Amino acid sequence: MSSLRIAVIGAGLAGVSAASALREADHQVFLFDKSRGCGGRLSTKRTAVGGLDLGAQYFTARDTRFRHALQHWLDSGWVAEWTPRLYCCDATGLHESPDDQQRFVGLPGMSALPRQLLGDAVLTSQTRIAQLHRIDAEQWMLADDTGATYGPFDRVVVAVPAPQAIALLEPAPTLQQTLAQISMSPTWTLAVAFEQPLTTPVDACFVRGGPLDWISRNSSKPGRHGNDSWVAHSTPAWAADHLEASPESVAAHLLDALSDVLGIALAEPAFTYAHRWLLARPDETRNWGALAAPELGLYVCGDWCLDGRVENAWLSGQQTARTLV
Ligand code: FAD
Ligand code: NAI
Repeated sequence: MSSLRIAVIGAGLAGVSAASALREADHQVFLFDKSRGCGGRLSTKRTAVGGLDLGAQYFTARDTRFRHALQHWLDSGWVAEWTPRLYCCDATGLHESPDDQQRFVGLPGMSALPRQLLGDAVLTSQTRIAQLHRIDAEQWMLADDTGATYGPFDRVVVAVPAPQAIALLEPAPTLQQTLAQISMSPTWTLAVAFEQPLTTPVDACFVRGGPLDWISRNSSKPGRHGNDSWVAHSTPAWAADHLEASPESVAAHLLDALSDVLGIALAEPAFTYAHRWLLARPDETRNWGALAAPELGLYVCGDWCLDGRVENAWLSGQQTARTLV
C-alpha cells in the first residue's frame, strides 16, 4: 500500500497506539487533540508538589502483544513496576490485601507513556474536531469548533470516548447506531499533598463502601519526587450524585472519606485539587476490538471497544492500525 495521509482524532493511548503502528507502516499520520497535550485519561498534573496521576493509576498486562510492547517500554525506561503495600477497606475494616499481580506505571508519571509513544509525530493540540467532511469518493477534510479546516486525508481514525465520537460520525450512521449503545460513567478525583508524610503503611487501597473506590500514595510510585501525595477516586455512583458539586465541596467530602479509610486524622494539606472525569469508564465490557466503515475510510477505536483499562486502549488502537493497513 502506498503511503496514506491519515488523521487521528484523539491522542489518548488508543489514538497514539494506532498512530505509532501506522507510522511504522510508513503512513503519514496527523493527530488532533482538544487538550494541551497527548494522553487523555493517562493524565499527570504537574504541580509545585510534584507530578500527580489524576486518571489511570497503574496498568496490568495480560495480552501477549501488550506484554511484548511492555518489555520494550521497560527496557527503554518509560515505565516501571510499582509494588505498593496493598490494602483493602471493606466491611471488616482496613486490612492488607497482597497479591501476585504485576502493576506498572509511567515514569515519571502516567502521561509519560503516551508521550513517549507519540515521539515526533505531528500533534495539533487544543483543537476540538467538530465535523468530518467527505470531499470526494476518496478524501476527507476535518473542521474544528472554530470552523478552521484541516486536510485532505485519505483515512480518518476517531479515537475518542464513544459518546464524543457519535457527533463526529454523521457520515457513518451505522457506526453512530452502534456507538449509541455505549454509556460511560464519571469519577471525581481528589489529589492532595502533605508537608509531613502521613503515618500509615498504606500505599494503595481498594475501597468497598462509601464514596471512594480507590486510594493511592502517589509518591510511593517509582520515579516520583516531591511531597507525600495521595490520589483518591470516587465511585461512579458517588460522582453521578455529585456531578455538579463544586470542586471545593467535593475535595472536602473526599478528604473526610480518605481520613475515614486510613483511620487517621489528616493535617491541613499543602495542596488540594479535585478533577471531574465525565467519561471515566465504559459501563460494560465489549469484545469489538475496534470498529470501522472501511468503504468510507473511517476507523474508530478506544478502551470502550473492550473494557476501561489502559491495556485495552492500546490494543484497540493496534487493531485499528491492523484493519486499516
Ligand atoms: P482517552 O484517554 O479518553 O483519549 C481520548 C482523547 O480524545 C483525549 O485526549 C481527548 O482530549 C480527545 N478528544 C475527545 N474528543 C475530541 C475531539 N472532538 N477532538 C479532538 N480531541 C478529542 N485504566 C487502568 O488500566 N488502570 C487504572 O488504574 C485506571 N484508572 C483510571 C482512573 C480514572 C479516574 C480514569 C478516568 C480512567 C482510569 N483507567 C484506568 C482507564 C484508562 O485511563 C483508559 O482506559 C484509557 O486511558 C483510555 O484511553 P483512550 O485513548 O481510549 O481514551
Ligand atoms: P487489577 O487487577 O489490579 O484490579 C482489578 C480489580 O480487582 C480491582 O478494581 C479490585 O476490585 C480487584 N482487586 C485486584 N487486586 C486486589 C487486591 N489485592 N485486593 C482487593 N481487590 C483487588 O487491575 P486491572 O484489572 O488492570 O483494572 C484496572 C483498574 O482500573 C481497576 O481497579 C479499575 O477499577 C480501575 N479503573 C478505574 C476507573 C475510574 O474511573 N476510577 C476507570 C477505569 C478503570
